[in-house]
Amino acid sequence: MQKKKIIVAVTGASGSVYAKLLFDNLLTLTDQIAKVGVVMSDNAKEVWRFELGNSDYDNYPFDFYHKMDFNAPFASGSAKFDTMIIVPCSMGTLGRIAHGISNDLISRAADVILKERRKLIAVVRDTPFSLIHINNMKTVTEAGGIICPANPSFYHIPKTIEEVAQSVVSRVIDLAGLEMDSFRWNEEN
Ligand SMILES: Cc1cc2nc3c(=O)[nH]c(=O)nc-3n(C[C@H](O)[C@H](O)[C@H](O)COP(=O)(O)O)c2cc1C
Repeated sequence: MQKKKIIVAVTGASGSVYAKLLFDNLLTLTDQIAKVGVVMSDNAKEVWRFELGNSDYDNYPFDFYHKMDFNAPFASGSAKFDTMIIVPCSMGTLGRIAHGISNDLISRAADVILKERRKLIAVVRDTPFSLIHINNMKTVTEAGGIICPANPSFYHIPKTIEEVAQSVVSRVIDLAGLEMDSFRWNEEN
């Protein structure tokens, strides 16, 4: 299997734990990954500090890019990143992507992934949804993106918040085409 080049964008929706778990999971999958480029919005950092009580995103050994750094390789289709995961994805970022408003590196990278017909996974988070949100999810889906809501499952009988959140992150890992041991309904683990 060819090693993947992955973009992870973290935005200011609630659910920083999803980003943290994805980072932790990706660290265990280095045999399948050539590169991880990360971009965080300002609110993503604020929400992470608020919800997780730390700034540990700074400690991950990935390639971090400022949200306005259009010199990042994945701001252009020529860099050939395979997959972009937006986790969690705010309604604001979703709306900018749905309408092609590439005014920061996150929305530009998503625009590139869609135009190059590569894989965009948006872990959207809000509740309830307005018709604007639903229409934006429809638009991104029609453009080839995958809307993977931050809706955890409970049939693996989670005991901690992280075990709850991992059910979403495991689906994201599957969607990204990465191989990882995780809970499978009615399969031996
Ligand atoms: C604690 C906190 C939680 C938030 N949760 C959400 C959320 O779940 N979904 C959402 O769309 N926006 C949420 N927001 C609002 C976004 O952070 C805000 O709309 C921001 O402008 C999004 O910009 P970004 O996509 O560039 O991060 C939250 C903000 C704060 C401070």
